[in-house]
Amino acid sequence: MSFVGKSVERKDALDKVLGTAQYIDDMHFDNMLIAKGVYSKETCGRIISIDISEAKKVKGVVKIITAKDIPGENLVPIVRKDMPYMAEDVVRYYGEPVAYVAAETQEAAEEGARLVKVQYEPLTPVLSIEESIREDAPKIHPHGNIHKYYKIRKGDTEKGFKEADIIIENEYRTPHQEHSYLETNGMIGVPSHDGAITVYGSLQCPFYVQEGVANILRLPLNKVRIIQTVTGGGFGGKEDIPSLYAGNVALMAFLTGRPVKLVLTREEDFLTSTKRHPSLIKYKTGAKKDGTITGIEVTFYMDGGAYSTLSPIVLWRGLIHSSGPYRCEHVKIDGYAVATNRVHCGAFRGFGQPQLILAHEAQMDILAEKLNIDPVEIRRKNAFQVGDETATGQKLETSVGLLDTINETWKKSEWQQKKILYEKDKGNKRRGIGISSSFYGVSLGAGGRKYEKSGAYVEINKDCSINVAVGTTEMGQGMKTVLSQIAADALGVTYEDIYILETDSTRVPDSGPTVASRSTVMSGNAIKDACRQLRERLEKVAEDMLKIPAKVLIWDNGHIYFKQNPSVKITFKELIEEALHQDVHLSAQGWFVAPYTTFDEETGQGWCYFTYVYSTNIAEVEVDMTTGAVKVLKVTAAHDVGKAINPTLVEGQIQGGILQGLGYALTEGLIYDKSGKMINPNFSTYIIPTAVDSTVIEPIIVEHTYPDGPYGAKGFGELPILGVAPAIANAVSHATGVRIKELPITPEKLYKTIKQ
Ligand code: MTE
Ligand code: MOS
Repeated sequence: MSFVGKSVERKDALDKVLGTAQYIDDMHFDNMLIAKGVYSKETCGRIISIDISEAKKVKGVVKIITAKDIPGENLVPIVRKDMPYMAEDVVRYYGEPVAYVAAETQEAAEEGARLVKVQYEPLTPVLSIEESIREDAPKIHPHGNIHKYYKIRKGDTEKGFKEADIIIENEYRTPHQEHSYLETNGMIGVPSHDGAITVYGSLQCPFYVQEGVANILRLPLNKVRIIQTVTGGGFGGKEDIPSLYAGNVALMAFLTGRPVKLVLTREEDFLTSTKRHPSLIKYKTGAKKDGTITGIEVTFYMDGGAYSTLSPIVLWRGLIHSSGPYRCEHVKIDGYAVATNRVHCGAFRGFGQPQLILAHEAQMDILAEKLNIDPVEIRRKNAFQVGDETATGQKLETSVGLLDTINETWKKSEWQQKKILYEKDKGNKRRGIGISSSFYGVSLGAGGRKYEKSGAYVEINKDCSINVAVGTTEMGQGMKTVLSQIAADALGVTYEDIYILETDSTRVPDSGPTVASRSTVMSGNAIKDACRQLRERLEKVAEDMLKIPAKVLIWDNGHIYFKQNPSVKITFKELIEEALHQDVHLSAQGWFVAPYTTFDEETGQGWCYFTYVYSTNIAEVEVDMTTGAVKVLKVTAAHDVGKAINPTLVEGQIQGGILQGLGYALTEGLIYDKSGKMINPNFSTYIIPTAVDSTVIEPIIVEHTYPDGPYGAKGFGELPILGVAPAIANAVSHATGVRIKELPITPEKLYKTIKQ
């Protein structure tokens, strides 16, 4: 292969570094209006009246919409329909959209939005998991405060704990995390003269948005076209909520007959977009003296916020991995996504797993310490290998590189030497080293079975340049590059020949969402399917031209040649010229349906994902014992990705994920006041790592190829964030001798605990 496995230059590199990429806010349409939202100033309350009379008088204000203007259904179609596009009778969180103003200018839109007067009758808000699950808690939704419950059952944990020599039980807590994509959410709706509508936007899932727009306008899907513009990061944050923004923009465009643009300020984005779920985890682990795990019981609560959005999916995905990448015969897991009057939480890189892994990896270290076993050793002892079974009874048949990730990080980080060296630190600055391991299901699996398919369209133009369309999206992760490499090798052409079109809902059939690290496998295999069809048609032409059976021909890098004698060859260009003469059909639709998966909600068992990726992180920290400040000195991270289609991009994903994990570990979290108002909805007070907070990162690629992946690849875009916070937490514990069981590990928290 000429391109798969090589670190070719990103397709979008120049466009992004030169600043020529057109993000949604760079786009302009003639006669376009600017929109501004009106957001609830009440955390929980009944809407008594919405007065738009003053706002309407503002010069330049063209249209003000509220729930009353919706011709379709005022419910955003996500998993369960419970979130309105605009609040109608009640508001359920501070910042909830109540109305939108469309105006000739930004200033007029802002002035209009300011003058929309909403009167509320305040109701008592529910502001925590504990408050939400109380028997006498106010009901946030008619069905109550449980968005979703799932369980996993395997063996008999009572028996498992009886077999144990030691049992440890702890509680862990994690905060909200904001995706902090550089580009805030934004949409432009453009109505067409024939009653159809096109929405351009910064988004991950065009087919979700299409449904969202169709539902608010009561339009058939063929009248709604979604085009993704260059997207400045998503991380799961542009998975479900863009349907709400797009729906409201489309409604304004529809009612005014003019293009309408809505781009959120950072504060509006913080207030109204989804977050990573805060959580409470009760974790009980039993083990034998030699470190063998005998039983695991987990009760997991996630704060889903006011609306369920993707909570059911996040909960399911988190639970499936909640006993860690370890063998255990007896497992009992219960998970609840509960409603509160705080911002709704949804998808975020890792779906529930970054919360749970903090717990299972702390448990492993606590066990190791009590049993006097090295933390690396206890993981090696229990780690999944080919042939092992997960907590849901799925047998891992191929591509299980976990042990290699443990061994590689152990070696490269010089674990043994550093552990001894750091334990000698007795002064003000103390260093520590910590490890974490993880596994993670690729693509939607049984939790999203109905979306587990993807299409692709490949077209060879008469000059031999090639267009490729897919239904998944580029959001910075490098999808266009990776898919171009796959397409180039699948057709035997050059990487430069491939152009991936912007993702547009009209180009390929519904291909599901761009989430769950699924693009490489799903779109990659769909592209391979299309290329296979084209190759089959072209092989006949090549056979005629070379007078050699197609079986013995090699297609590579723009040439087709005889395996045994490479001088017997034609160029791809010559081949296509001949094919054009013969009127060969030079475009093809590819299709890929994911391998079998299933999950039984009653038994809590199932074949959940078609494959898993694996990783190990080792973090080194230095703690200032007088301030509690933690400095991360280095993170070594090994990932089993199946096959690295582009090693530099794999390393880039590891670096980005580590930085995001570092913020989750040490600084990030939303702060609410007593009334339920988010008080740090900006980067001045919500602290994410910047370049100066970064650390030395050593990425390691492990390749246990997955036979059903394109060229053996598995798809690992989310994996890099998972193990970072737990490895840092374990390193801090190693350095200080105290354990913080609640993220983030702020200096205040650590200092207080050390003093105690
Ligand atoms: N990397 C960048 N630069 N920007 C992103 O928004 N999203 C992450 C991950 N890496 C993201 C990213 C998430 S949440 C997912 S699901 C995967 O990329 C999606 O990419 P894939 O489907 O190509 O694996
Ligand atoms: Mo990623 S959370 O699956 O968009």
